[in-house]
Amino acid sequence: MKPRKIFLLPGDGIGVEIMAEARKFIAYMNDELKLGFICEEGLVGGAAYNAHGMPISDGDMRRALAADAILLGSVGGPEWDGVSYDLRPEAGLLRLRKDLQLFANLRPAICYPALASASSLKSDLVEGLDILIVRELTGGVYFGEPKEIIDLGEGQKRAIDTQIYETYEVVRIARVGFELARTRRGHVTSMEKRNVMKTGLLWNEVITAIHAARYQDVILSHMLADAGGMQLVRAPKQFDVIVTDNLFGDLLSDVAAMLTGSLGMLPSASLGSLDEISGKRRAMYEPVHGSAPDIVGKGIANPIAMIASLAMCLRYSFALNIEADRLEKAISAVLDDGLRTADIYVQGMQKVSTSEMGDAILEKFRLISA
Ligand code: IPM
Ligand code: MG
Repeated sequence: MKPRKIFLLPGDGIGVEIMAEARKFIAYMNDELKLGFICEEGLVGGAAYNAHGMPISDGDMRRALAADAILLGSVGGPEWDGVSYDLRPEAGLLRLRKDLQLFANLRPAICYPALASASSLKSDLVEGLDILIVRELTGGVYFGEPKEIIDLGEGQKRAIDTQIYETYEVVRIARVGFELARTRRGHVTSMEKRNVMKTGLLWNEVITAIHAARYQDVILSHMLADAGGMQLVRAPKQFDVIVTDNLFGDLLSDVAAMLTGSLGMLPSASLGSLDEISGKRRAMYEPVHGSAPDIVGKGIANPIAMIASLAMCLRYSFALNIEADRLEKAISAVLDDGLRTADIYVQGMQKVSTSEMGDAILEKFRLISA
């Protein structure tokens, strides 16, 4: 059996605490299920800045490139507020996404039945929710040049970010969205701002053309991104797959996350294109939430987004679909049992710590896998 190489990047803040939980699952799968994962570990974000003076070292970039999959915790925190823009913790994450060409970011928002009441929305609006946001991740305003602040003198400055999309970038993300829709409920909603942005116009045009040429079996809807945000909180179950750009995807996926009860629940997969020769796809898996500086070190962080990200890793990088399903079932079962970390706690449930939640899910996973 070929070794399965995973590169672990816990990062900063609660990233370290939740990665400790993910490691328990990898150890179990190695020891008991003999799945042969080989893990290396590196530094990213503020942790890398403290050690190397940059948010990810060249050595760790090389190890990331050599791995089959990367599992990342979270980056950033107030400790690095004064660090220059190019060296800030987030720059490490953006470099990983860009250099590995991880253009397709999959952010599923699933509302576990047991959590419907933890959502800020009425439970009947979110119960059974299962949507997938497909966010373009290597283009748009995050990376467009020029990107700068110019001193105009007399106390005035000009800040510039540049939103750029080229046809091929929209084509490849659209294809991911349509292909995934075919495996789900067959409906893609594309979100942009064609009413004020040229990139929105192109986005709309390209998606429409690909749909007509190759994906007529999928239903395509277009929505302006602001209206899309509104519809996400008005009637989220109308959506199946949402395809959108880097910035809108960032915003809309945080909104979608809250529908599920907590930002602590949402995993993500960032995928590159398939290498036709090796049959491999570069991939990184990380929770949608950030490093949560306000709760660091308290042992109360929700590890579910991290564990669910590991499940996505099993599915998309290693085709271990059975194990991935079992892991997701284990999460669901623990929630059914009433265990809750602080972020999803409601009265009458059993409040547990980060590691207690991890252990409980592992125990279920063991039972289901036996
Ligand atoms: C996310 C995060 C990142 C982003 C930050 C940490 C740079 O918010 O993955 O959604 O803006 O993409
Ligand atoms: Mg975000």
